[in-house]
Amino acid sequence: SISKKVEVLLAKMTLDEKVGQLNQLSGDWEATGPVTKNTGDKLQQVRDGKIGSVLNIMGENHTRTFQDAAMKSRLKIPLLFGQDVIHGYSITFPIPLAEAASWDLPAIERSARIAATEASAAGINWTFAPMVDVARDPRWGRVMEGAGEDTYLGSLIAAARVRGFQGRGIGSTDAVMACVKHFAGYGAAIGGRDYNSVDMSLHALWQTYLPPFKAALDAGAATFMNAFNDLNGTPATGNAYLQRDILKGKWGFKGLVVSDWNSIGEMIPHGYAKDLKQAAETAIKAGNDMDMESRAYIGHLAVLVREGKVPIATVNEAVRRILTKKFELGLFDNPYKFINAAHEKATLNQPKNIEAARDMGRKSIVLLKNEKNLLPLSKDVKTIALIGPLSKEKWYLKGAWSTNVDPNDNVVNIYEGLQNHAPNAKILYAQGCNITDSVATDFKEAVETAQKADVVVMAVGEDIFMTGEARSKANIHIPGVQEDLIKAVVATGKPVVVLLMAGRPMIFNWTAEHAPAIVYTWWLGSQMGNSVADVLFGDYNPSGKLPMTFPRSEGQIPLYYNYMNTGRPATGDNDAFYRSSYLDVPNTPQYAFGFGLSYTTYSYSNISISKTAIRKDETITVSFDLKNTGNVAGEEVAQLYIRDMVAQPLRPVKELKDFAKVKLAPGESKRISFKLDKEKLSFYNDKLEWITQPGDFKVMIGPASNNIKLEKTFQLIN
Ligand code: IFM
Repeated sequence: SISKKVEVLLAKMTLDEKVGQLNQLSGDWEATGPVTKNTGDKLQQVRDGKIGSVLNIMGENHTRTFQDAAMKSRLKIPLLFGQDVIHGYSITFPIPLAEAASWDLPAIERSARIAATEASAAGINWTFAPMVDVARDPRWGRVMEGAGEDTYLGSLIAAARVRGFQGRGIGSTDAVMACVKHFAGYGAAIGGRDYNSVDMSLHALWQTYLPPFKAALDAGAATFMNAFNDLNGTPATGNAYLQRDILKGKWGFKGLVVSDWNSIGEMIPHGYAKDLKQAAETAIKAGNDMDMESRAYIGHLAVLVREGKVPIATVNEAVRRILTKKFELGLFDNPYKFINAAHEKATLNQPKNIEAARDMGRKSIVLLKNEKNLLPLSKDVKTIALIGPLSKEKWYLKGAWSTNVDPNDNVVNIYEGLQNHAPNAKILYAQGCNITDSVATDFKEAVETAQKADVVVMAVGEDIFMTGEARSKANIHIPGVQEDLIKAVVATGKPVVVLLMAGRPMIFNWTAEHAPAIVYTWWLGSQMGNSVADVLFGDYNPSGKLPMTFPRSEGQIPLYYNYMNTGRPATGDNDAFYRSSYLDVPNTPQYAFGFGLSYTTYSYSNISISKTAIRKDETITVSFDLKNTGNVAGEEVAQLYIRDMVAQPLRPVKELKDFAKVKLAPGESKRISFKLDKEKLSFYNDKLEWITQPGDFKVMIGPASNNIKLEKTFQLIN
């Protein structure tokens, strides 16, 4: 068995070789700053058995060089090759937040599967994904990498991504190990500022932030990554409560835990450890198995063991976890299992996978506004004016955290997407401004271009450097003077479709009120131009729904749909006095969680509920008719929310507990049923016990969290 093989190998290892297995270094470059090439030195360290895993080494050629070095080490223990394969490898898929907007779990799983197929063919056996941090603050740049604000949706997506990455299991030939990150609380950094402290109740941690991690674990995730942040005063990397008590204890996680980049070393500036030696001791004792880039373990762990400060059993446990994964991956049988030039070439950029990226792209788009059915555009349109700094952009369309294996010329931009769809149309172009321009002009060229066209499409938003790690922003309005450009173009009176591209929810109140059509496209990757044009010309009827609330003002943040009612709930936008509201901005968002339009319309009717009272272990079924009442086929994401009317502790005004993405032909109606069971009605009490409480529940069904069409109540009895 694998555990026996691990023990046999462990018995042969010196203390230094054990510590080497816990050391992970970046191959070619050392930080996101200037590139330092020191591959030669790294190879020597691998030969010396001082490195157990590398990151940022990709492709057959490069991974082979490193694995060759590992095969020259005394015990020939193969390397793990880790990489941030966040949204595709060679083919770039939509950023994860965009994919979450599809609410399409099989499609999300498929894109992770394709990413894993490509990455594993290029020598990689471990991705640092999925990021499952619940994120309710759009100022935080890393919202782009997760599934948004909701625990339930986020948990299902976390599991889908793990299934996609790990495919038929990590022993198969086309899987990569998933790494669920960042354990835990990272998404709740105070003020949305990356790496900042997290101060939250344990109740919030368990109720809202931990479930997606547990869902990923239950889906079989092989590895976890801890986090940069401190949680209630203890850095996640040195946090025994998180890693030992919860993850490896209560949850029984058998895989390995890796630190974040230098997060062991960062316990020094945190003020939690006085030096790297103390940081190493703290991290290993807290359950951090592998050290990414701190060099704390390689520098100090052997000494700590010799001094009796760290028990050898603690080191052995960490090494066991790492060796077990190497065995499970099949690397001891064949260290070159994932390293094969012909296979790499044949696997990357397959047309069917490019098509899947295009499909995922259009599924991720959210139609926010469509006055007078301006969209879809006719393919016979004679003249289109394409205006805005993102019209011809390629690289930015991939979004942050793309692997950059995909060269820019593989990206279809908006201009090309329009050309592909309306080959007979004349496409006029004006850039209008740069993304970061800070001074508005009369935008003469843009205005004149708009005036010559039948319809105007505007491509505006963020650039690739504005979301992602370390890209937090205090101002999340459309950057620069782009909204002034929109105003100038809308003033021409021409029909204007605004495409908003970003890795986060932006604020654009003027545009929301005055632009006739708004399409939120996020960043969609290699096929973005085609995906967007599929939607603009009606080849695909948009079906995306927002996975995060869009605020009207930064002052409302954090703003999310499942808030507590308070003792003085706001009663209306103007009723600000002595209620829980602002004097200057309503409590409501610009666009709510779950919102998104379609080119057709749907009706919700005939709700029925199987029982009006249930006992704890019974299930209740809620059914209703969903009908496509328009003229084109479409897919609707019907959402079910519950409210536990009276509870101790409090429960939110709404909680998503189920949804269905339903395809309907024009005029077609389907009866949809959702089941509610004990699991969905339970919550943590203030002793952190998972309980059900008898009482009244409201069930609400509709097309968005703020648009409930059907309601029923039932009672939970003991
Ligand atoms: O995986 C990432 C992590 O999410 C942030 N810091 C760097 C890691 C490796 O690139």
